[in-house]
Formats: sequence, structure tokens, C-alpha cells
Amino acid sequence: MRNCISYEMIIRDAVEADLPAIVEIYNATVPTRMVTAELEPTSVEARLPWFLEHSPEQYPFWVAESDGRVIGWLDFKKFLPRCAYRGTAEISVYVDEEFRRRGVGQRLLEQAIARAPSLGITALVGLIFGHNEPSLKLFERLGFEHWAFFPAIAQLDGVERDLVVLGQHCPKRRSRGPGGRPFYARTTRDSPQVHGYSDSLSLMHALMEYRHEPIHSELLRIRDKYSMLHLDVLILIYHFAKICSGHILEIGAFVGGATIAAAFGVRDSGQNKKLIAIEPGGSVKHKRLGTRNILRDLERNLARQRVSEIVTLIKGRSFDAATIRAVHETLGPDKIGLLILDADAAKRRDIECYSDKLADNCWMVIDDYYGADSNTKITPSRADIDALVEAGWLEPLGFYGWSTWVGRWPGRAARDR
Ligand SMILES: C[S@@+](CC[C@H](N)C(=O)[O-])C[C@H]1O[C@@H](n2cnc3c(N)ncnc32)[C@H](O)[C@@H]1O
Repeated sequence: MRNCISYEMIIRDAVEADLPAIVEIYNATVPTRMVTAELEPTSVEARLPWFLEHSPEQYPFWVAESDGRVIGWLDFKKFLPRCAYRGTAEISVYVDEEFRRRGVGQRLLEQAIARAPSLGITALVGLIFGHNEPSLKLFERLGFEHWAFFPAIAQLDGVERDLVVLGQHCPKRRSRGPGGRPFYARTTRDSPQVHGYSDSLSLMHALMEYRHEPIHSELLRIRDKYSMLHLDVLILIYHFAKICSGHILEIGAFVGGATIAAAFGVRDSGQNKKLIAIEPGGSVKHKRLGTRNILRDLERNLARQRVSEIVTLIKGRSFDAATIRAVHETLGPDKIGLLILDADAAKRRDIECYSDKLADNCWMVIDDYYGADSNTKITPSRADIDALVEAGWLEPLGFYGWSTWVGRWPGRAARDR
């Protein structure tokens, strides 16, 4: 297996000759007391049997290589020896200190998530110290949830440390914690507000991390050419499209800025998600992005960005019976895991049209929350959203860009609780 990830980095199966570099990267983390429970450095000889337990077909061992140098690695191993756990693999990711914060760990993890089903793996777990914030954030960003928490279980230089087990089904299933919240947190005395607060912080953090990655400049280019939305909003759309379970529905595609961001997220998820974009067409006079023929430009832009095949374009208005029928036919029995609303002010109408197809914890990106004179006038969009939040139908997670509301659809079960 040899997979080109970017111009500078490839991910490939590790060979025995890589072991010294693998061990060196591992040993560098031992004194930090952040990553491994090993307290002393190890050696190539000691690690050889462990290395040989891997096989490319079942429990692969991959290295990330740049300019001929091993800069990171990821391995799969049995989670527990009993047969019933054979579909579950534990993964570990290590990145050379010099190459951290460049998306190396993320690329390795993304590949692990994408390849897991073809390896016969139905769930991935990562065992991470509770104080290892960077790794926790990385796993969370890629859709891992908190499945278990072991308080004060490790002794590192006399300090008691917690262990968190993060997990993800492959392919991803609906979150088991209410609102996608950490599963273990339900057993604590945290309030729902505390969970929403920490989820909002996680989103902000994810956004910050994307600033160091190539997708940031890719989406900046898309924004400048094709979108009225703020770059941060496009990045979040990309992020949600990548991590969401379920398909994606966009209402009001215009010339494709947000559509392309979502399509890139689908592409990078490695999963077969459908992206449905509804747009009636027409012409728009806008100081930066005017067009005389929205649909013609939309189709041309999707083709230019090579995402036409990812997008199912439905030409019509969101609330027309024919449009609703076409969305249902495209989705079949499946649900929507990300809804992007950027059409007109009737947000409640659009949500009601498709509420029966929204998955629990469906991500929502809704534009036009604030108007230009937000201090004095509540926009109709905002009135709709506020009413739905008040009724418990929407869970707010933040405001981004110029006027975009971001949150979730908790689902009936969570609302009734
Ligand atoms: C503000 S633009 C969307 C901008 C786009 N999200 C972006 O990234 O730049 C709004 C679009 O919604 C479309 N629209 C208006 N009413 C609609 C409806 N009921 N259903 C679907 N699209 C609608 C308009 O034709 C227009 O292209």
C-alpha cells in the first residue's frame, strides 16, 4: 500500500528497516509523561516482536514519510484478546517532535478511519491520558467520542493521571451520548450547559487547528471565488461534512462556495456520503459575486473543482413538493447529518420541510442570524432560530463569521428527556 497524501508526505506500510526511526519517535515521548505509560526508553531489539505482530491485511503498521524520512507512525492492534472483540482495534499515533502541528497525525488517523472497514475493523479505540489535550482534541476532531474514563489509574512520577478511551464505530454510527456529548460525562454532575460549552470550545479549537493545514488556503481560494460566507464558516462546513454521520443537505447553493467546501469534506472523509444541494437559480447582483445565471455558474464551478460527482443538484425551491420528493428519493432510508441553510429568511419553514430526515445530533449551519443593524433589529432568520432554540429543537454552539449560527438538532429522544 502506497498512498500519496500530499506533495511532501506519503503514508506507506512500515518495513523492518523503519524500526529504528519508529523507536526513536516513540522514545522521544517517554520523558514528556504525556503520551505513553512506558516510563523508560525502549530499544529496537525489544520492539521487534511487537512490530512483527502487525500485518498489512489485518493490523497494519504505517509510517508517514517525508523526503525519505520517517516523521510519524500509526499502528493497529487487538483491543482485547477475546474473540468477541475481534472487530475492535486499538490505534496509536506518534509524530516526530519536529513535525507536530502540521497535520501528520491527522492524516494518519483519517486514513485509519477510512481504511478500517476494508480491514474488517468495526470500531477503533484510542487510549489517551486525560492530560494529553492535543491528542484528545485530535481524536475528537475526527469524530471519536469519549467511551470510557478511568480516573487516577496511572502513576507518572508520583502524579496520578486519568485515562480516557475514545472510540468510533466504522463506519460511524449515531452518537450514543445525548447531543454527541462525551459518554462518560453523563455520569458526572456536569449540566447540559457545561457540555454545550465544552462542545463550543472544541469547535473553536478545531477551527484554529485547520489554520495550520493546507485545506485552509484551499478554502480561502474557494471563498474568494465562489462564496458570500466567511472563511471560518466554510472551514466548519468542511469539518462537519468530514465528520458527520449521515448525508448532507444544503439549501441555497448559489454559485457553490459552501457546496464545494462540503464536497471537499466528503472527499476527505473517505466515506460515501451524499451531498444534496438545492438551488432554484436566477440571477444575483452582488458587489463581489454577481451572476446572471446562478445554475450555469454553479454547475461550472462544481466541475472546475472536480466535485460534480459528489453533489446531487436539485433545481428548485426548498419547499416545493417536487424538491422535497427528490430529496427523499436521493436519501432513501438514510438521514441527514449536516444541514446547511443559506436560502431566504424562512429558516423554520426549511427545517420543518426536512425535519423527518434529520439524524439526531445533525449539525446545522444557518446563515443570516444577525443583520447589519443587529443592535436594533432582530432578523426574521434570527427570530426563527431563537424560537426553535427556546423550544429545545435546536442546540446552539456558536456564531461564526459575519452572521452564521452553528449548532445541532438534538433529536426527539434528547428533547423528551
Ligand atoms: C446567499 S445565497 C447562498 C450563498 C452560498 N451559501 C455561498 O456559499 O456563497 C442564497 C441562495 O439561496 C437561493 N434560494 C433562495 N430561496 C431558496 C429556496 N427556497 N430554496 C433553495 N434555494 C433558495 C438563492 O437563489 C441564492 O442562490
